[in-house]
Amino acid sequence: MESHQTQTARIAVLISGFGSNLQAILDACNAGQLPARVVVVVSNRKDAYGLVRAERAGIPAVYFPLKPYLQDGRGRRQYDADLAELVAGYSPDWIALAGWMHVLSNAFLQRFPGRVINLHPALPGQFPGTDAIARAYQAFREGRITQTGVMIHFVPDEGVDCGPVIVSETVPIYPDDTLEALEERVHAVEHRLYVEALRRLIAGEIPPCR
Ligand code: GRF
Repeated sequence: MESHQTQTARIAVLISGFGSNLQAILDACNAGQLPARVVVVVSNRKDAYGLVRAERAGIPAVYFPLKPYLQDGRGRRQYDADLAELVAGYSPDWIALAGWMHVLSNAFLQRFPGRVINLHPALPGQFPGTDAIARAYQAFREGRITQTGVMIHFVPDEGVDCGPVIVSETVPIYPDDTLEALEERVHAVEHRLYVEALRRLIAGEIPPCR
C-alpha cells in the first residue's frame, strides 16, 4: 500500500456473482495487458461462480458471508471491519468491486482511502443501485433516456454507485433491442472499461482520489 505505481500492482477483487468482470481482469493480467495480479477474490455469496474462476486460476478464493454477523449481533460495521482486515492481509494496491452486492461502510473504506473502485452499469448519476441495466432499458422504452453506459468510479464514501469517475462510456440503445441484447452490449463495455480503468490507475494516469 505504499506506492500508487508498483511494478506489478496487487488487486483484490470483491464479487457476488458470475464474475465475468473478474475474468476480464484475470485475462488482461495473463495477456500482459495489465501489469498486475489478482491476489485474492472475496465473495459474500457462497454460490458465486466467480469463486470457481478464482480457484481455477490458483488465486485465494474466500467466501465471507454477512449473515452470521447479522444473526449474532456483531452487525454490518463489524463485518466491514473484519472484511477490511481480511483484504488488507493480501496487501492490495487496489480493491476492485466487480458486481459486489453490498454497500461498504467507512469501517471498510477508511482502511483503503482512494484505493477502492467500483463498476456501475450506467452513466454517472444514473440508476444507482441494483438492476441498473433493466431500469435504463425501461426508461428508454418510456422515452426518458436515449442511451445508457458504464462507469468505473472511486468509492470515497458510503454513497451508492457514486464517486469521482475514473472512466465512463456511453452505450447505445436501439429501438428493437431486447433487454438481453442491451445487457450483452453493456457487459462487453464493462469488461473492456474495467481493464482500462485499472491500467490507467496503475500507470498513474489518473489523479489519486483524496
Ligand atoms: C455487472 O453488470 C455489474 O455492473 C453489476 O453486476 C454485474 C456483475 O457481473 N452490478 P459479473 O459478476 O462481473 O459477471
